[in-house]
Amino acid sequence: MKHLLKLEDWSTEEIIEALDLADRLKYEQKNGIEHKILKGKTLGMIFEKASTRTRVSFEVGMTQLGGYPLFLSSNDLQIGRGEPVEDTARVLSRFIDAIMIRTFEQKEVEALAEYGSIPIINGLTDYCHPCQVLADLLTIREFKGKLEGLKMCFIGDGNNMMNSLIVGALRTGMSISVACPEGYEPPKHILEFGESFGDKFELCRKPVDAAKGADVVYTDVWASMGQEDEKKIREAAFEGYQVNDELMSVTNEGCMVLHCLPAHRGEEITAEVFEAHANEIFEEAENRLHAQKAVLVKCFE
Ligand code: CP
Ligand code: NVA
Repeated sequence: MKHLLKLEDWSTEEIIEALDLADRLKYEQKNGIEHKILKGKTLGMIFEKASTRTRVSFEVGMTQLGGYPLFLSSNDLQIGRGEPVEDTARVLSRFIDAIMIRTFEQKEVEALAEYGSIPIINGLTDYCHPCQVLADLLTIREFKGKLEGLKMCFIGDGNNMMNSLIVGALRTGMSISVACPEGYEPPKHILEFGESFGDKFELCRKPVDAAKGADVVYTDVWASMGQEDEKKIREAAFEGYQVNDELMSVTNEGCMVLHCLPAHRGEEITAEVFEAHANEIFEEAENRLHAQKAVLVKCFE
């Protein structure tokens, strides 16, 4: 059974296959070519955190594929009142055909896969955001015509986005330099994964060092969902970790800027840089739809 619990679980071939399929589905959608590949299938979508893009892309994507998306807020499910995820997995497996879940702990997603008998898709945990990174890679390939040999840099927190981008970039032949303050690095095993790619991976302290010669600059919020209490401490810790014109001046000509959104202008990115790259950032948001459809089709194969 195929899941997408984290990007590490998918090989380079599987990632590229998903991107190729997303390209095809995007073309078909844009050209009015029907592709109801998942007719009669039901996707349960469990949300324990807020979402705009993930919810809408999965809901619309499932509909376009001829299936039925079932929105399940954790506030309404018994899971929100303490019913174990192990039991929820076994019950839902008898009603529906796949689950997409957005939650806090990665182990909850892994438990769904262990106890359920249907494909499980990670729609964001504190640890990773694989669906977003597939859309990001799709966008880079669309704008640059390739991935292999490009340099990405990530400025900011060693969070779910940084973790999945390190895996996604390196698995697809890009190099990636990340810049984060001390104490905000990705987990040790992600750093080790990066280091196993030699000089294709670099952990920097100064944003400008990571951005030098970059073809793609990526950033994300300083305080993720669930870290609202740390907002003030993080604002101080991340001072200077901003994507602004000065940082962009050391990147390669034609460098793209991507952001998973929502963005906090004036914090991790200036309004000027954001607007100058709005066409890339909103294509990236749209590509969530096409990438998610590819993930769904692959998980149902
Ligand atoms: N980028 C992303 O996952 O957006 P949402 O939180 O709106 O789903
Ligand atoms: N790091 C952010 C990503 C949002 C898509 C968060 O987890 O809130």
